Amino acid sequence: MRLKGTQGPSAPLGARFLTSPEDMFQHNMWDHVQWTEKEEETARQRAEDNSSVRVPQEEQAKYDTEACRYWNTFYETHHGKFFKDRQWLFREFPELLPPDVPERPASPRAADHQETLETLARDTRDIPYQHADFRILEVGCGVGNSVFPIVKTIKETGAFVYCCDFSPHAIQLVKDHPDYDPSVCHAFVHDLCEEGSPLPIPLHSLDVVMAVFVFSSIHPTRLQAVVDRLARYLRPGGVFLFRDHGRHDLSQLRFKKGQCLAENFYTRGDGTCAYFFTKDEVHRLFTNAGLEEVQNLVDRRIQVNRGKKVVMHRVWMQGKFRCPGGS
Ligand SMILES: C[S@@+](CC[C@H](N)C(=O)[O-])C[C@H]1O[C@@H](n2cnc3c(N)ncnc32)[C@H](O)[C@@H]1O
Repeated sequence: MRLKGTQGPSAPLGARFLTSPEDMFQHNMWDHVQWTEKEEETARQRAEDNSSVRVPQEEQAKYDTEACRYWNTFYETHHGKFFKDRQWLFREFPELLPPDVPERPASPRAADHQETLETLARDTRDIPYQHADFRILEVGCGVGNSVFPIVKTIKETGAFVYCCDFSPHAIQLVKDHPDYDPSVCHAFVHDLCEEGSPLPIPLHSLDVVMAVFVFSSIHPTRLQAVVDRLARYLRPGGVFLFRDHGRHDLSQLRFKKGQCLAENFYTRGDGTCAYFFTKDEVHRLFTNAGLEEVQNLVDRRIQVNRGKKVVMHRVWMQGKFRCPGGS
């Protein structure tokens, strides 16, 4: 690990810099960590090693065809207790804030696209809340760890959040949540890999599409088609927000031989899957879908278990990609 000076990047991914190794156990998390070549090489070798024995070919298909069942069972087992509310959401993604909220960066408003809106009004009479002036969609929303912080923030702003997941159990948990409010939120079951099934949302109508730790669950060969489809729901100037696992994160290196399905794609003990992205892959995924890169970061941190004196190298990806057009 190379230690950084106190001058960090301008990105708002935390600002706790480890400048001296003696300070390691002073905090639970250190930001903007850079790896040495040796650390990179060790991680690469560990990933190569744990991928050297793959899941037998005849067993592989079920992790794709039965993905929904595995996630549904996951939520039947853990209910809403596994993931924590995403506290970093508005700090990293101020684009989620409707235009009237002061911290939001300048971006085009729905009213700038009168023609699109008029077409929408005509085509979407049965769509919930077609008159909202700021629309967000979270895909793979799970039990709503991002949705409910958003719902609380957008109340009485004229904004609306759609959210979907392919697990009926997860969506039921969202709908049963005390903060679920159909006047600002619509949760529905939807499989992102189901090509023939459109979202109940007009094309070119969304200000924000957000995918948080969901694309890593999808087989890498299917993902481009998923992003291509979702990108078509953004209106000109709308933005796609993405956060997910990064290549050689601790959770990738911890997989055992025999859990690898494809390069950098693994199955966990419960049948759910995880892919680990690089910056170039993220760039290609979204720009191939016709979007323009606004941000594409590798968020490398050190997580510290101070009690057990354990140091963990974490890697996450964070990206923002804009639909061309708009002001
Ligand atoms: C790691 S969880 C993240 C949940 C949520 N985004 C969060 O941050 O708490 C991944 C979610 O993606 C959903 N998912 C995976 N593949 C999907 C697909 N093809 N279509 C829709 N949802 C999917 C799973 O059911 C699960 O809820």
